[in-house]
Amino acid sequence: MESEDLQRMVIAIDGTAGSGKSSTSRGVAARLGLRYLDSGAMYRAMAWQMLLKGVDVGDPDAVAAHAESVRIESGTDPADPTIHLSGTDVSRQIRFAETTMAVSAVSAVPRVRELLVHLQRAIIGEGGIVVEGRDIGTVVAPDAALKIYLVADPAARAARRSAELGEDQVQDVRSVQQDLVRRDSVDSTRATSPLSAADDAVVVDSTELSLDEVVETIVTLAEDRLSSQAGD
Ligand code: DC
Repeated sequence: MESEDLQRMVIAIDGTAGSGKSSTSRGVAARLGLRYLDSGAMYRAMAWQMLLKGVDVGDPDAVAAHAESVRIESGTDPADPTIHLSGTDVSRQIRFAETTMAVSAVSAVPRVRELLVHLQRAIIGEGGIVVEGRDIGTVVAPDAALKIYLVADPAARAARRSAELGEDQVQDVRSVQQDLVRRDSVDSTRATSPLSAADDAVVVDSTELSLDEVVETIVTLAEDRLSSQAGD
């Protein structure tokens, strides 16, 4: 494999909530020695900031006004991805149920998307990164060498997501599934950058696959892309 090309490669992994994007993206980045960016964590940090400041997340103008001053820093080591808000580690807070409830409304605000897309592109820089989200292949990195759209059946996603939640936030699988379906619907129908597969994305269904199998599938696709580029 041409390591120079690999070090410039951008792999976009989009998909619905709970489709296994995070574990998959981290696994692929670790396997290929690439950086990793969780764009959802940035939207979550933005939502947490609104909650901290008592901003009504149902008021897009108020959210847009507060978004200007928010400082989000994302660490890109797949073994230890970090997220800081104005210097404070908020990795735990961004997973709170209240943050999850607020994030779709916050991420639907065009100014929030503008600010975060700008930040995401700055982090992507020259490439060498796996980026997970909802609009990476369509908006953030439309030239990504490999675009994956990860899907899984809602019941499988809910079972995985409830197993991931910490003991202090136990939720039954049914309510997790309802929440995932609600977020998919809000994320897919919003006016700005709705969740959708890029025309040139490879759809990978993880319902029947183990994490290792999904990672392997994507690593193979990335290697194929690189060798076909090298042959061009
Ligand atoms: O991937 P996640 O569940 O942590 O994402 C949280 C929310 O952020 C999700 O409901 C929609 C939003 N999001 C987005 O709008 N665009 C992205 N690129 C990533 C996430």
